[in-house]
Amino acid sequence: MYLVTGGAGFIGSHTVALLCEQGNRVRVLDDLSTGCEANLAGLPVELVVGSIIDRATVERVMDGCSHVIHLAAIPGVTASVDDPAGSDRVNVNGAVTVFEIARRCGVQRVVYASSCAVYGQTEGRVVRETDPLRPTSPYAAGKAADELYASVFSQTLGMSCVGMRYQNVFGAKQDPSGAYAAVIPRFVELALRGQPLPIQGDGEQSRDFVAVADVARANLLAATAPAADGVYNVGTGQRTTVNQIARLVLGEIPSGVGVETHPPRQGDIRHMRSDPSKALDELGWRAREDFATAMAETIRWYRGRLEA
Ligand SMILES: NC(=O)c1ccc[n+]([C@@H]2O[C@H](COP(=O)([O-])OP(=O)(O)OC[C@H]3O[C@@H](n4cnc5c(N)ncnc54)[C@H](O)[C@@H]3O)[C@@H](O)[C@H]2O)c1
Repeated sequence: MYLVTGGAGFIGSHTVALLCEQGNRVRVLDDLSTGCEANLAGLPVELVVGSIIDRATVERVMDGCSHVIHLAAIPGVTASVDDPAGSDRVNVNGAVTVFEIARRCGVQRVVYASSCAVYGQTEGRVVRETDPLRPTSPYAAGKAADELYASVFSQTLGMSCVGMRYQNVFGAKQDPSGAYAAVIPRFVELALRGQPLPIQGDGEQSRDFVAVADVARANLLAATAPAADGVYNVGTGQRTTVNQIARLVLGEIPSGVGVETHPPRQGDIRHMRSDPSKALDELGWRAREDFATAMAETIRWYRGRLEA
């Protein structure tokens, strides 16, 4: 039995769907703060609505589980800047609670969500797992702290914890609204509504965008690969700029009215791109979704949602 914390969220619901497709029994623990029950519609899962910071609930849902995929978190840098202590309670204390109870319940492995944000400013370098961690936000500091705890649980306390440094994940079911929305869902939603796409700075900042289907597959491989150890970059190794995304979105959605420029965002990471070769060597994982095809599918999903 798999426990997926944050399983009603964006990455979580795709991971749960793949687990079900492969015949696994799945339980989800989610407080539905950013996730929703609709993301799990039609899936044969047991959803427990509750928080990872509630020990009694975590003990109850962990009972009988062989594997845990821990994705629950308050996502996003901005939320953590607004409330560092609140972010820490869920993103660090919650993670340690999950690691600790998993150990006591005899879980075989915990796969947990870290983030490429742990690298901080990379000055255009391709990041590798051995690079120093230079978090620049409470969110990133929290993910780095999770990695340190996970390493102690793995090396000293006998609980195998494998960390996934996701790059920028995109696909259906990603929340396009609010101040914390990621660039792809925000651009798609605005273009579908005939509104301009806001570009901060010159738009030449770049990211390594990885399709959520690839990320779900990486999570499952990390849960079972015998050699899995430490942390993994989960990205494509490819660089895509915000301008390229805007062009692609406006090409697919001709009703979009173009772009509007804004001042650069303070403290924004200029470039981020990862070397995913450790995941290939040890998990047998590489991103295989084609970017343009995955984008077209994503746009189709948002269009369908808007029409509904
Ligand atoms: N999306 C990305 O590009 C990206 C990149 C790097 C890392 N991550 C990490 O991946 C994980 C999943 O992110 P996502 O993009 O799917 O975000 P999401 O907001 O869709 O998913 C997070 C889920 O956790 C749940 N949750 C939040 N606090 C909780 C709590 N206290 N108890 C139980 N459930 C709680 C939310 O309701 C939501 O369903 C997070 O840990 C995030 O930090 C995401």
